[in-house]
Amino acid sequence: MINKQWILKSFPRGDIADTDLVLEESNLREIGEQEILIRNIYLSLDPANRGWMSGQASYVDAMKIGDIMRGGTIGIIEKSNNEKFQVGDYVNSMGGWQNYSISSGKGVQKIPQNTGFELSAFMSVMGMTGMTAYFGLLDITDPQEGETLVVSAAAGAVGSIVCQIGKIKGCRVIGISGSDEKCNWLKNELNIDGTINYKTEDVRARLKELCPDGIDIYFENVGGKITEAVLTRMNIKSRISLCGLISGYNSESLVPGPAWGHLLIKRIKLQGFIIFDYQKRAMEAFQDLGKWIVEGKIKYKNDIVPGLENASSAIKKLFAGENHGKLIVQISEE
Ligand SMILES: NC(=O)c1ccc[n+]([C@@H]2O[C@H](COP(=O)([O-])OP(=O)(O)OC[C@H]3O[C@@H](n4cnc5c(N)ncnc54)[C@H](OP(=O)(O)O)[C@@H]3O)[C@@H](O)[C@H]2O)c1
Repeated sequence: MINKQWILKSFPRGDIADTDLVLEESNLREIGEQEILIRNIYLSLDPANRGWMSGQASYVDAMKIGDIMRGGTIGIIEKSNNEKFQVGDYVNSMGGWQNYSISSGKGVQKIPQNTGFELSAFMSVMGMTGMTAYFGLLDITDPQEGETLVVSAAAGAVGSIVCQIGKIKGCRVIGISGSDEKCNWLKNELNIDGTINYKTEDVRARLKELCPDGIDIYFENVGGKITEAVLTRMNIKSRISLCGLISGYNSESLVPGPAWGHLLIKRIKLQGFIIFDYQKRAMEAFQDLGKWIVEGKIKYKNDIVPGLENASSAIKKLFAGENHGKLIVQISEE
């Protein structure tokens, strides 16, 4: 059997170039003792992929030139020599940008069947994306009724769930995003209290209008100028959940930082987090998120691009703001 795989050929400089990743074919070997063969169905495209490609180690090992591009996948088991997995099981794993992956089973998690949720939801709201929003907001900032919550990249996969959990917890929610269409969706469909289009509006002036009592919680997805504007309106003893800094991921030099003096003077609590740390508590998030979806309190969008061959061009959508919801590549039929 032939396996198509995206191979890292060079570490990107600035934006990801077409030549950094190349689609190659190889022969799929037979599985060994205790191994499983997974046919990958969905591939998660994430802003973090850009960091993994950089050649620098961070919270995970650095990728090397010649590696199969790293990525989260949902797949179905087609062969198993491992008693923990049966043919036909749907699983979540780091299967990589390829049609098939062979695994020892380490780090492979079964996806519950007949739950009523579509399979791709386990890659977004009922997967790592939902967990990131859930723990990043609730565990790090402990939102209280009546508090003002500001979310950047608010219409994105993580941001849109954060906005809705904020509403469930009784916060006034203000979302910052990069188009009127996304702002309208946040206001009209997700019923948040106010929106700012950072590409066409003066963020600092609009925050002043929309947050007359200041900001109690900031959910940080972006960094740079937006953070600078948000910090000026943060309240004393407010909290920041430092989830991501996408505005700097393609930058070759350090992005000019915000004025951190605001944190000091206002005794703001800021905490970064990596969602992998919460793996053991995943069920807490999924029980609440599942209930909220069924009750109609949480809506989500998956932006599904067909075809593994389109993965390398599709990931650029994340940095251009062209994805609408969780960006996923469909590799094969469910
Ligand atoms: N800490 C963790 O464990 C963890 C886990 C998952 C994700 N994250 C972080 O969460 C953030 C959101 O990730 P996601 O997967 O949900 O992606 P996403 O928000 O669905 O997609 C990324 C969005 O970022 C916005 N963006 C891109 N470049 C920007 C720029 N220069 N300035 C302002 N906004 C920009 C775009 O929306 P606009 O149209 O609004 O510009 C784009 O649609 C990222 O920073 C990611 O690294 C962290």
